[in-house]
Amino acid sequence: MASRKLLLLPGDGIGPESMAEVKKLIAAMNADLNAGFETEEALVGGSAYDAHGQSISEADVATAMAADAVLFGAVGGPKWDSVPYEVRPEAGLLRLRKDMELFANLRPAICYPALAASSSLKPEVVEGLDILILRELTGGVYFGEPKEIIDLGNGQKRGVDTQVYETYEIERIAAAAFELARTRGNKVCSMEKRNVMKSGVLWNEVVTATHKNGYQDVELTHMLADAGGMQLVRWPKQFDVIVTDNLFGDMLSDVAAMLTGSLGMLPSASLGAPDAATGKRKALYEPVHGSAPDIAGQGIANPIAMIASFAMCLRYSFNMVAEADRLEAAISAVLDDGLRTRDIMSNGMTEVGTTQMGDAIVAKFRAA
Ligand code: NAD
Ligand code: IPM
Ligand code: MN
Repeated sequence: MASRKLLLLPGDGIGPESMAEVKKLIAAMNADLNAGFETEEALVGGSAYDAHGQSISEADVATAMAADAVLFGAVGGPKWDSVPYEVRPEAGLLRLRKDMELFANLRPAICYPALAASSSLKPEVVEGLDILILRELTGGVYFGEPKEIIDLGNGQKRGVDTQVYETYEIERIAAAAFELARTRGNKVCSMEKRNVMKSGVLWNEVVTATHKNGYQDVELTHMLADAGGMQLVRWPKQFDVIVTDNLFGDMLSDVAAMLTGSLGMLPSASLGAPDAATGKRKALYEPVHGSAPDIAGQGIANPIAMIASFAMCLRYSFNMVAEADRLEAAISAVLDDGLRTRDIMSNGMTEVGTTQMGDAIVAKFRAA
């Protein structure tokens, strides 16, 4: 039997509620398919801070580095608003991304047929939508130095963040975008703001050069990121793969989430480079949404983003393509049956809680 080591980091708020539904799937796959998943679980975010004063422990970072894949729920919440900046819940997630060198964050925005009417946009705008936002995840303003608040001594302070990109960082994310595009619609749109940012000028140059150097079969266009946000809402189906930096990718993917009906629908995969010797990639799978403090503890969170993140894990970390397809089909089928969590509820549908939605997806998966 295969041994597949998973580290589960449920985190805070609705993180543990959504992760509970993925645990059911893991158990079902071990029982039915002899999948051999071995899970370990650890604290991250505010729950880790409460337990030991850090948003993730050194030992748990080491476990994440050694795991075949990490499944991450969500972190943060008002309870930790005043903890020191270095140990705030979000720092644990950023530390994992940086230490594991997870530079490529795949955020697919797919509008399931049954949800075309749930989007805040007209059904014809989102029906059949299948785009991929590829967000650079280990560089840019998230990590650039200096990053500080300086007391100017005259009653004023200066807050500084630094946007930095080097050639190799842009090259590898551009190459990843072209490779991914070849497996789908063969189009890449690169978004930056070269009109105001030097890092945007470099981004544009390097993406263009990478394209010339081996990827000319893929169609490449460029768009200023603000206009890109507008186009995402105006006519999102013009896009196939969007490649963009860390901060623009964060914002544009929340926008794209609403095209699919809810932030509770969007999964993601954060991938490193393949290891030269083994070909294996470090990987962490997380929904795009956060800990949703406004609905945490009520049993109403939509677990689909977390479950679909697990489907991406099956696909990208374990090459279990048939099982990933089957899980995505199970999600689609449950939506076709009219089951809805509150965030995607509409007239005539059946409202269910987190657990019922998870149970229904597990049942469809097992029955398929
Ligand atoms: P959020 O994504 O937690 O919530 C935004 C809105 O979307 C809320 O109204 C919430 O109820 C709704 N929502 C999100 N996921 C949902 C789901 N699965 N089902 C139903 N509704 C859902 O963003 P926020 O409120 O801006 O941030 C809350 C906290 O989460 C902050 O501390 C933030 O830093 C953190 N955060 C963490 C992650 C992560 O861990 N990956 C991502 C984003 C935000
Ligand atoms: C995301 C989140 C994170 C980010 C936070 C929680 C650090 O918003 O994954 O989209 O800004 O990258
Ligand atoms: Mn975000």
